[in-house]
Amino acid sequence: MQLGALPRIRLASLPTPLEEAPRLAEALSGPRIFIKRDDLTGLALGGNKARKLEFLMGEARARGCDVVITTGAVQSNHARQTAAAARKVGLHAVLVLSGEESAELQGNLLLDHLLGAEVRVIQSTEQYVMLATMEDVAREFTARGHRPYVIPSGGATAVGALGFVEAVIELISQMNVLGVKADAIVTSSGTGGTQAGLYVGCKTMASNIDVIGISPGSSRDVVTRRVLGIVEDLTRLLKLEFRAHPDDIIVYDEYRGAGYGILSPECADAIRLVARTEGILLDPVYTGKAMAGLIDLVRKGRFGATQTVVFWHTGGQPALFAYHDALSR
Ligand SMILES: Cc1ncc(COP(=O)(O)O)c(C=O)c1O
Repeated sequence: MQLGALPRIRLASLPTPLEEAPRLAEALSGPRIFIKRDDLTGLALGGNKARKLEFLMGEARARGCDVVITTGAVQSNHARQTAAAARKVGLHAVLVLSGEESAELQGNLLLDHLLGAEVRVIQSTEQYVMLATMEDVAREFTARGHRPYVIPSGGATAVGALGFVEAVIELISQMNVLGVKADAIVTSSGTGGTQAGLYVGCKTMASNIDVIGISPGSSRDVVTRRVLGIVEDLTRLLKLEFRAHPDDIIVYDEYRGAGYGILSPECADAIRLVARTEGILLDPVYTGKAMAGLIDLVRKGRFGATQTVVFWHTGGQPALFAYHDALSR
């Protein structure tokens, strides 16, 4: 199946820039580093979810849906970008967010409100509770005569991950123009769709690029299982021949610190280093930890000085403002 045959709505500002980071590379005395600026996808302050939402909202519209329901943490970037995508397409958005009722109206949560999303805060962080709550909301809207479209946390479906299969085509054409070849892509990998799409994209482009996922909170096994599940669904959806094995999926969970959403000292250091060498801002939940991983892998000699690494900047900076206390300490 051709990607172009699937329903899609343009939401992201593409292609995102591919920028070399020479001062960061010099500070690390490691490989050549490029940063793929998916923080500049443009949809309500950017981030990786815009690529997924192009295909997810395309499917929602093709099915005639008028309400989009999704879930995440109170500082979910996915929820914020879904709220914006829904507005752009003229749909109502309901966000089921896990956290405290009293959560500060800051960062992504503030933007959810500005975007006019219907926010329902629940205290549980259990996936099954969040899913069941979304199903309740969907039933409620169906009973009122609406057609809901439910998007799982992080937009983690094969349809969403299509955006990252295509992103590899975009990356490779940018690298061809620059005359460089990447040896590895390093990305934050949470619900798995970004890494799965990049992995399938690299496989279908017959490239030998390693796609390395850095977990912001879950164990290596959990993230690997999520990525592999989406890879399998993607190969079915796109009618591809290859089968992925768990050993093909590279995930590190050593950089998650005390857990999801908890700022680690290494993450804070990575945010400062990239800000002070390249003038680029990372976020405290995903990309700061992914960069802490890249820095440590460089120090451990995972990449040679003649190699080229692409750091996939997946966005998330609105959360910086919700972490002002921890970051200013
Ligand atoms: C800023 C940011 N980076 C990375 C990720 C991880 O992407 P994925 O869920 O596709 O693994 C997310 C969302 O989960 C995110 O919001």
